[in-house]
Amino acid sequence: DHQVVGYSLLPVINKLQENAALIGSEITLPQIVVIGSQSSGKSSVLENLVGRDFLPRGSGLVTRRPLILQLNKSEGQEEWGEFGHTGNIKFTFEGIKQEIEAETSRVAGPNKDISPEPIVLKIYSPNVVPLTLVDTPGITRVPIGDQALNIEEKIRTMITEYIQNPNCIILAVTSANQDIVTSDAIQMARNIDPLGQRTIGVLTKIDLMDKGTDALDILLGNTIPLKLGFVGVVNRSQSDINLNKPIHTMLKDEMKFFESHPVYNRILHQAGTKYLAQKCNKILTKHIRETFPLVKSQIKQLIKKYQQELEKYGDPIPERQVDKQRLLYQHLNKFATQFTQDLEGND
Ligand code: GDP
Ligand code: NA
Ligand code: MG
Repeated sequence: DHQVVGYSLLPVINKLQENAALIGSEITLPQIVVIGSQSSGKSSVLENLVGRDFLPRGSGLVTRRPLILQLNKSEGQEEWGEFGHTGNIKFTFEGIKQEIEAETSRVAGPNKDISPEPIVLKIYSPNVVPLTLVDTPGITRVPIGDQALNIEEKIRTMITEYIQNPNCIILAVTSANQDIVTSDAIQMARNIDPLGQRTIGVLTKIDLMDKGTDALDILLGNTIPLKLGFVGVVNRSQSDINLNKPIHTMLKDEMKFFESHPVYNRILHQAGTKYLAQKCNKILTKHIRETFPLVKSQIKQLIKKYQQELEKYGDPIPERQVDKQRLLYQHLNKFATQFTQDLEGND
């Protein structure tokens, strides 16, 4: 099972969903939005966080429309994808990739142009939490192909729309073989989130840095301070992609790379894709914790209400209605306890 992001949150969110009908409250989770320059590795990072191969990746502007990825927990073992534009047709992961490519060309044209119209993809799997992730087209400056002269402005406007949402966590992706000080991702994130309260810096392509150089200063926050810090990752290279290297092999090789490196082996506990997923989980958990005191107080009130009704009936209590109340009471009580424990367990 390769599911990484959201994994440690699974019990909490599942319980919330199961009980949403009872509590009568909507569950709103934050979005994770991935931004950065063209080919910095955004799609790779997002795909690794989800733990499945399904996104087109490659050199040049491959992601030409925003992709809104909604993860949904399904019953049973089956996993599939559905698109907003194709209704309830079920796609395999391989089919998903092809459909994204076809649908991108249909709306944005076959030749490098972009479109702000998002592709909505829902993934159903028993191994995910209801979470929304957004992949965005890369920031680019010089128009090519059918791109408009103001391509840069168009892309920036598009990205701003997503990261303006105060409920969104920004993954600001920069490749390590590029100057971090001029990073588009960091600059855009700073404009919208100046205090860096919801921006995680992601440094990709650490394996491609010039010999004798390293990214330690950036990763330690000495170059650009970010409240939530930087995480270095090593995604699959183009030849890994061509050779269909699986994600679990990539995760192992990535750790091997950091472990065997004379500089990075000092910060092993805060490097790599798994650590990035843990960090996302932690921030999401914090968000849930901040958003749900209300839910907790609603649960408490419901418990009280059921308890009062049960006491009113007194003993003995063979009636159907009473049994139902009692069941609900027990259920909510158990939920409230577990919900609290799960949140604390995620610290
Ligand atoms: P995006 O345009 O930002 O979405 O970037 P992609 O995820 O499509 O990646 C662009 C290219 O960079 C692909 O060929 C990837 O294989 C390659 N790539 C991404 N991350 C890394 C990395 O950490 N190391 C190496 N060697 N290649 C990477
Ligand atoms: Na690319
Ligand atoms: Mg991409």
